[in-house]
Amino acid sequence: MVLETLPLGVFVLDADLNVVRVNRAGARALSCGADAGVPLARFLPDDRVALVQELLREAFRSRHVGSIEEEMIVAGDAKIFRLTAAPVESASDRAAHAVLLVEDVTRAKGLERQMLLTERLTTAGRLAAGVAHELNNPLATIAGCAESLQGRLGHGDSATSAAADDFRHYLGLIEEEAYRCKEITGSLLQFVRDPGSRRDPTDLNGVVLKAVELLARQSRFAASRVTTELDPALPPLAANEGQLRQVCLGLASNALEAMDGRGTLTIRSRLVRGEIEIELEDEGPGIPEENLSRIFDPFFTTKPPGQGTGLGLAIAQGIVTDHGGRIEVRSAPGKGSVFRVVLPL
Ligand SMILES: Nc1ncnc2c1ncn2[C@@H]1O[C@H](COP(=O)(O)OP(=O)(O)O)[C@@H](O)[C@H]1O
Ligand SMILES: [Mg+2]
Repeated sequence: MVLETLPLGVFVLDADLNVVRVNRAGARALSCGADAGVPLARFLPDDRVALVQELLREAFRSRHVGSIEEEMIVAGDAKIFRLTAAPVESASDRAAHAVLLVEDVTRAKGLERQMLLTERLTTAGRLAAGVAHELNNPLATIAGCAESLQGRLGHGDSATSAAADDFRHYLGLIEEEAYRCKEITGSLLQFVRDPGSRRDPTDLNGVVLKAVELLARQSRFAASRVTTELDPALPPLAANEGQLRQVCLGLASNALEAMDGRGTLTIRSRLVRGEIEIELEDEGPGIPEENLSRIFDPFFTTKPPGQGTGLGLAIAQGIVTDHGGRIEVRSAPGKGSVFRVVLPL
């Protein structure tokens, strides 16, 4: 049967939205049995039933193909599906059946999101470098002028008056501060030019333990528990230890902040098919779906001003991408969050 060989979930439905046929890929995509004769609603997560039914009814009504993309939690995993509903014309005038195509586009979408973010961060970096570069020249002028005026003050008649002392003092400040600004723009330029920095064989379990130790000392987290389940056979990874510690610190402090002094944060490490995974699972409130696509955006925060910068995840993402890896998130309100850092060996 052709249906079975398609790498695409296919559901054939009657006008009452009962499933007449479903192929193996369809059953697999929605993680359900391949039984026919039951309402389609049985195959879908409760909160998505109405939406998909509407898509199909519209296909029946308009006799046109309609398509939506939806995120769904299937067997605990967040997946993005492209759902396409097409009416099947029969001998009689009315369409008696419809076909629902279910295509798992999670990976493609994830890559697309990651690319967009990388692009935005690169643009932000380039912008910062441009600004830094432009500021360098005026700052040099300011510092130079201040220096030259100070030199002139030293020789003239007014060199002894109190006003001259003030001039000298303020010019000194101007010069000093201008040089400080130059140092800041200089380090910004260096940061943008050299994102990678040093890589050495690094024991990631050690990185996790150091981050945990640092956080355990902070009294605001004292009431939460942190447990580790680290694979002792983890091979060393060519990485920048300081940067990866920053990643662990950022993710772990987000988890502890989310749990607000309760619950347990579990950090695991494991080797899966040539990639090292560091997984942080918390018992916090979880992340609402509408925020999931934004948490990695620079300056996105749900914390009150002064507590959150919204840069933690953006920086973590930048570092992990630099190491050729990725960060995966699984979270639902009321179910806690799992952040997984995946790094290739
Ligand atoms: N473990 C988590 N549980 C719940 N929400 C989280 C978690 N980690 C991150 N978030 C959400 O992502 C947002 C952005 O995180 P981040 O970039 O670290 O910035 P910040 O911590 O400064 O707010 C947080 O404000 C929060 O809403
Ligand atoms: Mg943070």
